[in-house]
Amino acid sequence: MNRHLISAGDLTRADALLILDTADELAQTATRPIKKLPTLRGRTVVNLFFEDSTRTRISFEAAAKRLSADVINFSAKGSSVAKGESLKDTALTLEAMGADAVVIRHGASGAPHRLAGWVRGSVVNAGDGSHEHPTQALLDAFTMRRRLGRLDGLRVTIVGDILHSRVARSNVLLLSTLGAEVTLVGPPTLIPVAVGAWPCSVSYDLDAALPKSDVVMMLRVQQERMNAAYFPSVREYSRRYGLDGTRMAMLPGHAVVMHPGPMNRGVEIAADVADSARSTIVEQVANGVSVRMAVLYLLLGGSEARS
Ligand code: CP
Repeated sequence: MNRHLISAGDLTRADALLILDTADELAQTATRPIKKLPTLRGRTVVNLFFEDSTRTRISFEAAAKRLSADVINFSAKGSSVAKGESLKDTALTLEAMGADAVVIRHGASGAPHRLAGWVRGSVVNAGDGSHEHPTQALLDAFTMRRRLGRLDGLRVTIVGDILHSRVARSNVLLLSTLGAEVTLVGPPTLIPVAVGAWPCSVSYDLDAALPKSDVVMMLRVQQERMNAAYFPSVREYSRRYGLDGTRMAMLPGHAVVMHPGPMNRGVEIAADVADSARSTIVEQVANGVSVRMAVLYLLLGGSEARS
């Protein structure tokens, strides 16, 4: 594996399967009375968050602590970033405090790549702008494999605001590496122009895609990244691209419903669908800790650190 995890596209099939298999092993520790492993004792993980997060930030913190690493949580709000300090100076300051790994979320696409050129430790991309969110894709693949037993040949439909979604891009890259067939569905205004170069197909018709899906992954409409009107109204969007109980009934019996969170209940997903037995949304959060433990372990620990 590379020293950094910046893009899901950097992972070979062997790398990705190693992470998922390691996460499977590490998930077993969550069922023990004492959940901690000594694997990363003496190592320091810095969580550097310039954008809001609930799941990813807490999950990386839990993962690092379960591996006995020291954890420093940095939030741009309330830091010297508010006084104009640059990403580079912030990163060098944190490195001077002994960071072995920096987990970064940033509003600018490419920020983790820049950071990797400035620090000696490993850099993990926890979401950069509309670009990528590789550990989300890994935890999604982990969840699909656990629920459905395989990834090869799995038909995955990703629905909604693809244009602004780093989750969609990372999932397309990772799932295609792992042999799944991905279809993106959304209004034409929310599908990126460059999608023709992505390893997936595109449809504008959710009702046609659902009966052919083993997995349907609903995405949030990212109003905060929109500077124009991409659809006539929220109600119209929901009518064409929202998943309600009637639409969920069009899925094959074994199919699951996923969402990376945070959800807009009643917009892209109805509350009864989000809370249904087919929904993996809570499992995704739990699996995120195991997958992020695996990523930190493989980047920082390696085989010699296993104990
Ligand atoms: N899925 C996800 O990245 O959620 P957060 O923004 O809460 O981290």
